[in-house]
Amino acid sequence: MGFGLYIHWPYCRRICPYCDFNIYRARALDETAWRQAFLAGLDHALRLVGPRPLRSISFGGGTPSLMPPSLVAAIIERAALRFGLEDDAEIALEANPGSADAARFADLRAAGVNRLSLGIQSFDDGALSALGRDHDAAAARAALTQAQAIFPRVSFDLIYGLPGQSRADWRRALDVALACQSGHLSLYQLTIEPGTAFARAAARGRLALPDEQRRADLYDVAQERCAGAGLDAYEVSNHAAPGHESRHNLIYWRSGDWIGLGPGAHSRLTLDRRRLALTEHRRPEIWLDAVARARSGEVECETLSPAQHASEILLSGLRLGEGIALKRAEDALGAPLGAFLDQARLATLVAAGLVQGDAERLRVTATGRRVLDAVLAELLA
Ligand SMILES: C[S@@+](CC[C@H](N)C(=O)[O-])C[C@H]1O[C@@H](n2cnc3c(N)ncnc32)[C@H](O)[C@@H]1O
Ligand code: SF4
Repeated sequence: MGFGLYIHWPYCRRICPYCDFNIYRARALDETAWRQAFLAGLDHALRLVGPRPLRSISFGGGTPSLMPPSLVAAIIERAALRFGLEDDAEIALEANPGSADAARFADLRAAGVNRLSLGIQSFDDGALSALGRDHDAAAARAALTQAQAIFPRVSFDLIYGLPGQSRADWRRALDVALACQSGHLSLYQLTIEPGTAFARAAARGRLALPDEQRRADLYDVAQERCAGAGLDAYEVSNHAAPGHESRHNLIYWRSGDWIGLGPGAHSRLTLDRRRLALTEHRRPEIWLDAVARARSGEVECETLSPAQHASEILLSGLRLGEGIALKRAEDALGAPLGAFLDQARLATLVAAGLVQGDAERLRVTATGRRVLDAVLAELLA
């Protein structure tokens, strides 16, 4: 299944009104302190896990394209030295078109990044400004063209279900996206996250969001268009040509093992048949201070019960088109996955054509994925 490393960079130039990631306004920073902290975190992880070659390294955020490329290079180099990299390891980084130019891309490529994921969000200037983005559509397209000239693998994100967005608007956006994609697209339905500026605007009635029926229509348009272009919905929001799937994210969705370093990052590790969930301090200055003092930014280490572990396997694995490999789940849990499911509820979902199972796999059908949250809520109730 592979072993991954996630690096969280918590800074953004501007905070988008819909975003609730662990993010902070970018400011002058002490590169040496960050370098020492990430490198110490890697050394600590090695002591915990032992040498185990990495299938992937993923720089996420926040806006990791704001990281000094020399810092990205130092982290990749130390990770390769301490853990080793599998042949053909994926080294991915998320970039914001507002903080990307050809020279920076070239430096990141030279540092070892081989997959870039660009947060384009929309090809429409009005929508970009409504989303509070710090770039326009021309800048997004220019960044995409530059990225495609420099990185072997490039993906980009779009958000749909925007205020006032019609089926025709979304079809047009997808036509543009499909004409310029290179094998992978992430299409996220706008979620109103508690505590964000969008949540406050929605509460005041100032955000005319599409109703549930319109959102389902927009989801269907995305499925049809991507399938027609040969991009498989291998995950509920992710579409890829064969071989272009995100190897790093597949580790999460298949409930593999990964180390997460940086403010607020999470790790999942299987050690001595225990499933560990580790969390790092959320606030950057506290995280930096903790690593400087204790060589680790860890704030919590919990051993998941088999029932908690089974819930995670279901929540992430049922997002995948391939579903859950039952043998692998049984090996991880020490008991069949079915032992953690209410069989009567499962039978009802199967009879309704929303879930499908055989001796090898359990998966949500195409119809079920349209209402995935409701299916998961029912299965995990
Ligand atoms: C960490 S961000 C990506 C990198 C970069 N910071 C950017 O915004 O361009 C990951 C992606 O999550 C998506 N996202 C964030 N908040 C969302 C929300 N409330 N609803 C839907 N998608 C969201 C956006 O598509 C975004 O590109
Ligand atoms: S969407 Fe990206 S750029 Fe905007 S606040 Fe979130 S992480 Fe930062």
